[in-house]
Amino acid sequence: MSEIDPIKFHAKYGPWAVITGASDGTGAAYAHQLAALGLNLVLIARRPEPLLALATALEQEHGIHTRTASIDLYEPGAGAHVLAAAEGMEVGLYVSNAGADVNGSSFLDAPLKSWLQLINRNVAAVVETSYGFARPMCERGHGGLLLMSSGTALGGQPGAAVYCGTKAFDMNFAEALWAELLPFGVDVLSGVCPVMDTPSLQRLLARHDLKVPGIYDPEQVVATLLATLPYGPIHIFPFGPEADLAAQIEQARRQRVVTMTEASKMIFGEGGNSSKSE
Ligand SMILES: NC(=O)c1ccc[n+]([C@@H]2O[C@H](COP(=O)([O-])OP(=O)(O)OC[C@H]3O[C@@H](n4cnc5c(N)ncnc54)[C@H](OP(=O)(O)O)[C@@H]3O)[C@@H](O)[C@H]2O)c1
Repeated sequence: MSEIDPIKFHAKYGPWAVITGASDGTGAAYAHQLAALGLNLVLIARRPEPLLALATALEQEHGIHTRTASIDLYEPGAGAHVLAAAEGMEVGLYVSNAGADVNGSSFLDAPLKSWLQLINRNVAAVVETSYGFARPMCERGHGGLLLMSSGTALGGQPGAAVYCGTKAFDMNFAEALWAELLPFGVDVLSGVCPVMDTPSLQRLLARHDLKVPGIYDPEQVVATLLATLPYGPIHIFPFGPEADLAAQIEQARRQRVVTMTEASKMIFGEGGNSSKSE
């Protein structure tokens, strides 16, 4: 993993970054590390108080500018509110982070509404925000999208049926966007993340009285993903059944996207419509 050069990082992914789920866990880790790199931040979550406290601390510590917005990504159409919160700012990096499954239950044991909310946040809002943030990045010729996925994306997992489906969507979506946006100078990376010590995970473990060995530090995961952003489309952290195969699977999936990019050119032509308006 290469070291991040703050000047180059800022030039490519600044001056503003938008982070969903910014108030704790990996989202707060992104906020701290991006502020340390000198990026201004739009911080999104539902509860305003932790967002404001974080924003104030980051402004004081790093001299950056911040904006906070209280938005519930479970609501249909919430992506438009995220875009509106960043209105008028030059967003060079979008981090789609909020995404954990709070149900932790089998499909039929949770209300249907909760699964549809999970799809709104982890699929519809990701598409809507990526659509809105990617186009100006393509027009400027630089930028990045970092979409958080999970090891559960690599295969169906009982007890997480809808969650692993949404995370597989995020991973596949990022792979395709990586190939489509690379010619425009925009990097796309999906973090295929391991179990990490975050408040969301701790709440889930406490509810089921569970312990997980080999749990990752979210600060380390975020540092790796920020350094890996130019080298998409996915980064798989070794964990679970595929731990020994992580690098192999990552490489094979990358090669598949490259192969399919050539096949898609034959079917659809060269494409490259990212600078056209709606
Ligand atoms: N932790 C793990 O073990 C693990 C493993 C693999 C992948 N991941 C992925 O890593 C990412 C971050 O996970 P995490 O564990 O830090 O927990 P998370 O619950 O995804 O993130 C917590 C943050 O998201 C906000 N949030 C949650 N639901 C929201 C909603 N409906 N609308 C707006 N904001 C919302 C929370 O603030 P509010 O409650 O105030 O809204 C908080 O700021 C997720 O995409 C997750 O799928 C996590």
